[in-house]
Amino acid sequence: MKKVHIKSFGCQMNVYDGQRMADILGEQGFEESATPEGADLILLNTCHIRERAVQKVYTELGKLRDLKTAQKAQGQDTRIVVAGCVAQAEGAEIQRRQPAVDLVVGPQAYHRLPELLEQARARRIVDTDLPIDDKFGHLPAPRPASIRARGISAFVTVQEGCDKFCAFCVVPYTRGAEFSRPVAQILVEVERLAAAGVQDVTLIGQNVNAYHGEGPDGASWSLARLMHRVAEIEGICRIRYTTSHPRDMDEDLIAAHRDLPQLMPFLHLPVQAGADRILAAMNRKHTADDYRRLIARIRRARPDIALSSDFIVGFPGETAAEFEETIRLVDEIGFASAYSFKYSPRPGTPAAELATQIGSEEMNERLYRLQERIEHHRQAFNHALVGCKVEILLERAGRHPGQLAGKTPYLQAVQIETETNQIGDRVQVVIERAGSNSLFGRKAGPDDRAPEELAA
Ligand code: 5AD
Ligand code: SF4
Repeated sequence: MKKVHIKSFGCQMNVYDGQRMADILGEQGFEESATPEGADLILLNTCHIRERAVQKVYTELGKLRDLKTAQKAQGQDTRIVVAGCVAQAEGAEIQRRQPAVDLVVGPQAYHRLPELLEQARARRIVDTDLPIDDKFGHLPAPRPASIRARGISAFVTVQEGCDKFCAFCVVPYTRGAEFSRPVAQILVEVERLAAAGVQDVTLIGQNVNAYHGEGPDGASWSLARLMHRVAEIEGICRIRYTTSHPRDMDEDLIAAHRDLPQLMPFLHLPVQAGADRILAAMNRKHTADDYRRLIARIRRARPDIALSSDFIVGFPGETAAEFEETIRLVDEIGFASAYSFKYSPRPGTPAAELATQIGSEEMNERLYRLQERIEHHRQAFNHALVGCKVEILLERAGRHPGQLAGKTPYLQAVQIETETNQIGDRVQVVIERAGSNSLFGRKAGPDDRAPEELAA
């Protein structure tokens, strides 16, 4: 059997796309290989969000060129494909810088992989069309064995692309305009996943809460309506969605956090910065107080919800005082977790043209301080759960024999000792200890209490 090695960088959508490309190639007789050595086809699924992510791709391609040469010396042909957002943004540049690359295919064109691979035998190809036609309608369904091999949690793309044009972000250019998959197509996919043992789905999209896919009734369905329907699928016990924009948190979505038991109390809602002048310069179209009010509404609907965000430090022109506004917001909200990044100027985005870029030393100091605050709140959130009863969905083997690992509804990793349980079980667990990256628990008894009972 021919072997393909797929390496995905960046966001969860790339993980999903990588799996779908594996499904396509599976139909072409390729079996997945965990390492590049010995593979006939090597596919890098790339990320363009920050400059460092892009540098990684070229470093990786240098290594793959050497592997290709070494395998050639032993009589094995190795083909190299670059997919994902770097492919979309700088396809011609990739071909110029790395002659070992056979094919460059953008995120909206990968359903054509088989024919492109065929054409690439004759000449090197770049296909970075952002076509209107529906990629998803052309993808083969994953086989039950592939689904099982991927575990009981799965991502499902429901929306792609973005029309928000934040001043720093390449996504509207690399992934194209907002597009929502039709409801029926998503339900078929989730039903198939559930039939092969998936219990936990995360609906993903660059701007997932802007979802407005066509429903079976011909009307446009909101994300909340879609999730209510997904929750009816037998076997699906946990639903999450990511990533969201504050401006698209509609009333029915907030209400779903109160009314839909399968919707987990976790929300990744990036705010990016805490100063209104910077938010305006970022073209976010909301203020810090808008965000505070929104969080208050969400917490009224679901008091125990775990909140998460993305932050950028050192956006062009950000003063020391404006950075302090970000710290203040972090301390006020008390995020359960958050990602933070140094601003990285991206070619073609409006912010990259601004004259007031922040020096790297200042940037490093701000990032360090912000991460210290984020970590403080993450630890506080984790420690607050010690002594509480939570439901754990067991997902994989634990660190040591006799242990299984799973997730709380709040997306924290938990290890428990158990002789009688198996992967896929939902277990009531009392958290006994919070380590730096994992929680540790024991099976609960009848008198243990849940955090939502404590919060109510
Ligand atoms: N520089 C730094 N971080 C960025 N992000 C997006 N673009 C940039 C950039 N140019 C961050 C944002 C976004 C996350 C996915 O990546 O915080 O929410
Ligand atoms: Fe990028 Fe998200 Fe802003 Fe869209 S909403 S431009 S994906 S940061």
